[in-house]
Amino acid sequence: MKVSAGRLEDLPADHAVAVGDGSVVVVRSGGTACAFRNRCLHKENPLAGGRVHEGTVLSCPHHFWQYDLPSGRHLGGRGVLPSYPVEVTADGEVLLEVPDPPPAMSMRERLLAHARSWERGS
Ligand code: FES
Repeated sequence: MKVSAGRLEDLPADHAVAVGDGSVVVVRSGGTACAFRNRCLHKENPLAGGRVHEGTVLSCPHHFWQYDLPSGRHLGGRGVLPSYPVEVTADGEVLLEVPDPPPAMSMRERLLAHARSWERGS
């Protein structure tokens, strides 16, 4: 599904911002934008608010793990952030292609899932 992150010129150059339902973070980098899952590879904390250094490094706001931009590769070799395709339209709008949210579970499905996890002792 396509999600708008607003206009490229309106994205801050110095920090990452969450978009849509908050599960995606967008970063301005190298005259365009890149988008990642809004979870750090360290402890799964949100990357939103992380500082962007010269458009080439994103620093997690929690314990300062650093990621290369636009690849999302951890600079210490701990992996790569899951990323999403970005399109900047002719009029400067940033569109992100993000996965559809999972379908909502009915109350019956939630109760069954809870009962199954309880039976397993988790
Ligand atoms: S959660 Fe990002 S560095 Fe620890």
